[in-house]
Amino acid sequence: MSSPAFTTAAEGSVHDLPPRHIAVHPLTGHIGAEIEGPDLSRPLAPEVVEEIRAALLKWKVVFFRDQPLTHAEHVQLAGAFGAPTIGHPVFGFVEGFPQIYSVARDRFAGRHSGEPLIRPWTGWHTDVTAAVNPPAASILRGDVIPPYGGDTFWTNLATAYESLSPTLRGFVDTLRGVHSFSAPEGQAATDDFKEKNRRRPLVSEHPLVRVIPETGERVLFVSPSFLKRITGLSPRESQQILELLFEHITRPEFTVRFRWQKGSIAFWDNRTTAHLAPRDIYSLDFDRQLYRITLKGDVPVGVDGRPSTAIEGEPLDAFSAGTA
Ligand SMILES: [Fe+2]
Repeated sequence: MSSPAFTTAAEGSVHDLPPRHIAVHPLTGHIGAEIEGPDLSRPLAPEVVEEIRAALLKWKVVFFRDQPLTHAEHVQLAGAFGAPTIGHPVFGFVEGFPQIYSVARDRFAGRHSGEPLIRPWTGWHTDVTAAVNPPAASILRGDVIPPYGGDTFWTNLATAYESLSPTLRGFVDTLRGVHSFSAPEGQAATDDFKEKNRRRPLVSEHPLVRVIPETGERVLFVSPSFLKRITGLSPRESQQILELLFEHITRPEFTVRFRWQKGSIAFWDNRTTAHLAPRDIYSLDFDRQLYRITLKGDVPVGVDGRPSTAIEGEPLDAFSAGTA
C-alpha cells in the first residue's frame, strides 16, 4: 500500500479554469465529454494531465478518438494519472502486461448461457467495489469493435445523489452496504468464474454515500451488480431500498451512451460513476475486444467520516513486479 493512490489536483488549481491545452466537448447535460488535442501515445505534459484530470472530475467520464495505443502506451498513459493495479484481482491479466485486463466478449459465459433476469439495472456496476479500496479510475481502450452494437453507458452518481429528495438523502447518508463478487443476477456462471472467485474472495462494506475529497461531492456509491445488502436492515427492507436506488441511478438523464470505434478510449472516474455494457452484442455475430487498466483507489469515506471496511480479501495495491 506504499504506492501513491490516484493523484489529485492540488487545492485551488486548474480545475475551475477553462482548459488551454485541450478542447473539451460535453456530450450530455450531466456526464461525458470528448477531449480533443492530446496525442495519448506520447508522454503528456503536466499541464495537459491536469486539464484532463479537471475534465474528468467535472464530466466523470471523458472520451478520446483515434488513439490506437499499444499495450505499452496504454500502461504509460495510465501511469500519468495514478498507479495501475493488477489487471483484475480475480480474473487475471494480459500475458506480458500484468496491469492490463482483457475485456473480451465471451470472457465469462457463452452467448447461449441463458437469458439473464432483465431489470433496468441488470449489468450496471462500478468496477471492483468488492474491494475495500475500489479503483479510482479506469481507462478502457477499443481494439476490435463491431460495426454496430456493443456500446457502453455511464451514469453520474453525484447527480443521482443530488436529485434524491432531501429526506431520502438524509437517510441514505447514514447507510452502509456489503459488496461482493458473485455471478451477475440471473446469469449462469461458468465453473472457471466460480473457481477464480473462490480462490480470491473479496467482500467489503462501503458507505452508500461517499464523499469525494477533491470536490466535497457526495456520491450515491451503489454498484448494482455487487452491492448485495444494506447493513442493519431486514432482507426485505434492504432489497426494496436497493431496488429504488438502483432504478434511480439508471435514469437516462444521468447517463451517456458511447459508441466505440477502433482506437477510442474511455477514461472514467470509478468513484463517481457506474457503467453498463448492454447485452445486445451477445445476439450479434461480431467480436469485440477492449483492454482496461484501473488505477489504485483510496478507501471510501462516508458522510460521517467512517471509512469502508474489508470483510474478506486484501486491498487492491498498485502493481509492482512480484504482485502477480
Ligand atoms: Fe466494468
